[in-house]
Amino acid sequence: MQVRELLKTILVLLRSNVEQWTRLLQAALPDHRIIADLAAAGDAAVPYAVVGKPAPGVLAAIPGLEVLFSVNAGIEGLLESGEVPPGLPIVRMVDEGLAEGMLEWVLATTLAWHRNLFDYRAAQRAGEWRPLAEILARDRRVTVLGAGHLGARVAATLAGIGFQTRVWSRTPKTIAGVQSHHGAPGLEPAVARAEILINLLPLTPATENLIDRTLLSRLAPQAVLINGGRGRHVVDAAVLGALDDGQLRAAVLDVFREEPLPATHPFWTHSGVYLTPHVAALTQATTAVAAIAENLRGFEAGAPLRHVVDLARGY
Ligand code: NDP
Ligand code: OXD
Repeated sequence: MQVRELLKTILVLLRSNVEQWTRLLQAALPDHRIIADLAAAGDAAVPYAVVGKPAPGVLAAIPGLEVLFSVNAGIEGLLESGEVPPGLPIVRMVDEGLAEGMLEWVLATTLAWHRNLFDYRAAQRAGEWRPLAEILARDRRVTVLGAGHLGARVAATLAGIGFQTRVWSRTPKTIAGVQSHHGAPGLEPAVARAEILINLLPLTPATENLIDRTLLSRLAPQAVLINGGRGRHVVDAAVLGALDDGQLRAAVLDVFREEPLPATHPFWTHSGVYLTPHVAALTQATTAVAAIAENLRGFEAGAPLRHVVDLARGY
């Protein structure tokens, strides 16, 4: 019992897969006590919590909380909830499983449009043999907004396939085969005449509503928008207008201002919208637990915590 009380406690505050997360965390951190219910902590402090969307008041009630580990890469929901006690470090999810998932979703959607698969499907339904002009990736201009853990991986892979790839980020990047643009002055050259625009930005006051009518008008006519970031990055009416006037050929959307997407939203029925229900990259418990455990072990050995959210930047 005495030994148990020396163990540091990790509280798993998730709404699903709690048993799996608890089991994996316990296996990865056998010298910690993993609990899924605050009552199980007894009088002991609970220095660490693993959270998704905590219920109101729960975080403030955790005694001795030192670090919050988010299971999400995007933490705007946590910040906006007002539930995070001031000064508490938030570690966002940076994990190979998430990066691989996003890469797969972006490649699936980008290549489907690059090779006209949806048009061929429509032609098939109409019983028409309708070959289209096909160009190679080397002749296709693709821009990725955001060149962080997810965006940089996506951009490097697209460039590796041969796409003419540009990225836009806050600070300059060096990614093999990719043209880097940064900061507000870099936005226009980053997106000018892009045929496929992929959004992988975090949601912050500086990026909200970024994809508006003006930005869309800088793309090539009949461009494709692929949004894997957040719904609030795009002005919905601007996307619908651009689809209607041919500025956009398609909008592939995984994320929405309100989720689930309300039944009456025009995105459900617009023929130019292709939606997936926020599944582009799902946090995989196996790889995510390994990432948390590695970070925590380093921290307890005296290294700085990695991937701590910078509240001034908002991501
Ligand atoms: P990172 O923090 O690693 O990268 C963010 C990138 O955006 C960085 O390159 C950063 O620039 C850039 N950026 C941020 N603010 C600005 C700005 N004002 N102007 C220009 N560039 C900016 O995040 P991740 O790659 O890990 O994740 C990105 C987002 O993807 C998440 O925040 C989340 O919203 C979304 N996501 C969606 C999922 C889904 O299933 N649909 C799953 C997981 C994540 P710099 O590098 O210079 O700092
Ligand atoms: C995330 C997400 O941010 O799933 O991790 O959207």
